[in-house]
Amino acid sequence: MRMKNLYKKPITTTLHYNIWSRYCSMSVVIIWSLLILGCIFLLHLYSNNTSLNMIHPLHSSSYFNQLQQVENEKFQIPPPNKKRLPQSKSITPLVDEFLDKDSTLRHVFFPHKTNAIDPMKTIGKEINDSYSYYYPGRVWLDTDGNPIQAHGGCILYDEISSTYYWYGEYKDGPTYLAHGNKGPARVDIIGVGCYSSKDLWTWKKEGIVLTAEKTNKAHDLHKSNVLERPKVIYNEKTRKYVMLMHIDDANYAKASIGVAVSDTPIGPFKYLGSQRPNGYQSRDMTVYKDEDSVAYLIYSSEENNVMHIGPLTDDYLNVTSVMRRIFVGQRREAPAMFKHKGIYYMITSGCTGWAPNEALVHASDSILGTWETIGNPCVGGNKMFRVSTFLAQSTFVVPLNKFPGLFIFMADRWNPGELRDSRYVWLPLIVDGNDDQTLEYGFGYTLWPRVSIYWHRKWKLPLGWNTLK
Ligand code: GAL
Repeated sequence: MRMKNLYKKPITTTLHYNIWSRYCSMSVVIIWSLLILGCIFLLHLYSNNTSLNMIHPLHSSSYFNQLQQVENEKFQIPPPNKKRLPQSKSITPLVDEFLDKDSTLRHVFFPHKTNAIDPMKTIGKEINDSYSYYYPGRVWLDTDGNPIQAHGGCILYDEISSTYYWYGEYKDGPTYLAHGNKGPARVDIIGVGCYSSKDLWTWKKEGIVLTAEKTNKAHDLHKSNVLERPKVIYNEKTRKYVMLMHIDDANYAKASIGVAVSDTPIGPFKYLGSQRPNGYQSRDMTVYKDEDSVAYLIYSSEENNVMHIGPLTDDYLNVTSVMRRIFVGQRREAPAMFKHKGIYYMITSGCTGWAPNEALVHASDSILGTWETIGNPCVGGNKMFRVSTFLAQSTFVVPLNKFPGLFIFMADRWNPGELRDSRYVWLPLIVDGNDDQTLEYGFGYTLWPRVSIYWHRKWKLPLGWNTLK
């Protein structure tokens, strides 16, 4: 019995032990499974959350990498056309080809309307691969299906309505040569077009928010004059939307700055008049509103040989007497200004009328200078593309505040034969490089962060860029 008991006991113990150990290991398995499931659930929640509210830094950097991929363009330049008239002091045979209305490469520069970007085609459809891609150079339709008319423009992000507004030259009229066919190609003033968007891709036409004057020939906005490069900023103190623009006569001799104001971003803007800032000529221009709300006017002056920069008055309606001369003798125009990590940058073009030329990027620690010219920011395409700013001219740089270092470079691919059919070239602009290093380097030279504009046939903004908190 004892033996039996003795014998039995261990069996019972073993049995208990086995049951217990099985129970334990099952519990461990269950606990682990629950833990793993929990983790999966949390990860799922997190990833859903991130796609809605924020982008994981790694995700964004991998997207940055994608935007930084070098995309080449290959096409054969046809042999020179003997009939071709030199329309500009072009720097590449590509520009000659570009300016030739009969070029066999026309479809490369100005893709046919059947390839238009049409955001309405995706409405109601599942977001697929074709959704919200920018196709630089293609016709871009608004939500009514009409080509967007906002050339030489700018983007205003309106905090009050959480909406982007795109303003630009409304050029939907016939192109003709000024001065009895001897002057530059022009379209009579129609006004400033305004479009609104929540996603920087689908644009609803809000109308012509500043209109031309049809009868009074003495008025700046008389259709026979020139209204170019309108820029709009909001003044928190006066609660007015202020538009500044290049006002000129058909000879580009008036060289003035015009000002208009509105209580709403969609106008109508009331024209207040024009002036030469501090008596100086002012042609291509832009406006930059700094973080401290001081706004600066930047314009090509002194026969386009020098650029001027200076603060506006507090109400943004006038210039102050403070002004600095920058890029002296460099003949730059089409300024587009932006800021990253306390450094100011400007992209400019050379002065070759509607013909494209090489962009340059300039940088400064302080907005009034000293400004330094860094070089050509264009990457990809091919060499001829890069020295012609992808056959376009700078107009504005849009900050994507929630993605520090990523900007949209906005440029115009002018079509001097048919200005209303000028195209938009929007590309990613990325500032990277030495921004963590001290800027004062050996030999007394400053090493600026690298500013690059990457050519892409098609590209899109990183997912969730405008929903980041
Ligand atoms: C360009 C200028 C454009 C327009 C054009 C007229 O140099 O950037 O805004 O003025 O000349 O030829």
